[in-house]
Amino acid sequence: MVWPMTAVIQIEGLRKTFRTFRGGARVALNGFDMTVEAGQVHGFLGPNGSGKTTTLRTLLGLVRADDGHMSILGQRAPEALPAVAPRVGAIVESPQFFGNFTGRRTLQLLARAGGVPAERVDAVLAQVGLRDRAGERVKAYSLGMKQRLAVASALLKQPELLILDEPANGLDPAGIREMRDLMRELSAAGITVLVSSHILAEIQLICDHVTIISRGQRVATGPVAAVLSGFDKGEYRVRVGDLDRAAGVLTTAGLPVTRNDDHLVVADVADSAWISEQLGQRGMWVTELTPITPDLESVFLQLTAAAPGPSVPRQVDDVVQPGPIDLGVQP
Ligand SMILES: Nc1ncnc2c1ncn2[C@@H]1O[C@H](COP(=O)(O)OP(=O)(O)OP(=O)(O)O)[C@@H](O)[C@H]1O
Ligand SMILES: [Mg+2]
Repeated sequence: MVWPMTAVIQIEGLRKTFRTFRGGARVALNGFDMTVEAGQVHGFLGPNGSGKTTTLRTLLGLVRADDGHMSILGQRAPEALPAVAPRVGAIVESPQFFGNFTGRRTLQLLARAGGVPAERVDAVLAQVGLRDRAGERVKAYSLGMKQRLAVASALLKQPELLILDEPANGLDPAGIREMRDLMRELSAAGITVLVSSHILAEIQLICDHVTIISRGQRVATGPVAAVLSGFDKGEYRVRVGDLDRAAGVLTTAGLPVTRNDDHLVVADVADSAWISEQLGQRGMWVTELTPITPDLESVFLQLTAAAPGPSVPRQVDDVVQPGPIDLGVQP
């Protein structure tokens, strides 16, 4: 690790093996690396059991690493955590709130315990959209409202860095969208956000950068768009009247063509106009010519090889370890 660190979070070669109940060993982190730069909304994506929570717990000093280097806000972790803790808000274990207290009372108690001015309570309630429900008891809150209360508690001390483990877990689509808006607002306010999730669509919606973990190792990292474009095969969906004839023309021209029921998939296309020209010249009029862009879901499944088989349920540790892919976007 090059010192001093400028990244907000820097993790290199992190290793953690848990002793299991029966005396065995379970490798949770196997040389994991991650860099989160200031101002990012950074998604931390991986299948169940891939090591996300273990990474975050280790970073926050809740689990002791076996090996590796970590820094947080430019200071060594876990050694310097007491010094940086006031600048970091984190929700790693879902916090258990006392159901009989109202949302506001809960935050007032947390503010007092943390030496935070009482005015912050109303500010964070408004920030997470709970202002109008703050007088209700927490046990009457929906799951999404409890998540918001948790985020509010992490925002009390006006952190520069917010670390959230699966903040959108259990939220409905509207709740996920609201969580996304909240993350964007926090980011616009200058807060760096690290959000873990196993839900790809959520990361694609919420985050600008992503690190993908599989079996305790980083398998991809970079801006979401760059990670996706690394998997762009230049494929187009082509619809035309005579599919067989069109497939013949394009294959003869040297393009890989896959024939589907009602369309062709043509790969390695550099210029889509060339396809319509070639087919048009032969009296075949293209009715659809659409680029097939990869989404995070297909990239994630390729990287973690976690696609379920046709009939066998996938087991949590059933992932093929692909070679790590660094998209060259690390500084
Ligand atoms: N305290 C522990 N003792 C033994 N094994 C553990 C412990 N904590 C985690 N593990 C194991 O380490 C691996 C990584 O777990 P971790 O909780 O970090 O995964 P995760 O990516 O957060 O998964 P999820 O998406 O399900 O939350 C798993 O195989 C898990 O069983
Ligand atoms: Mg987890």
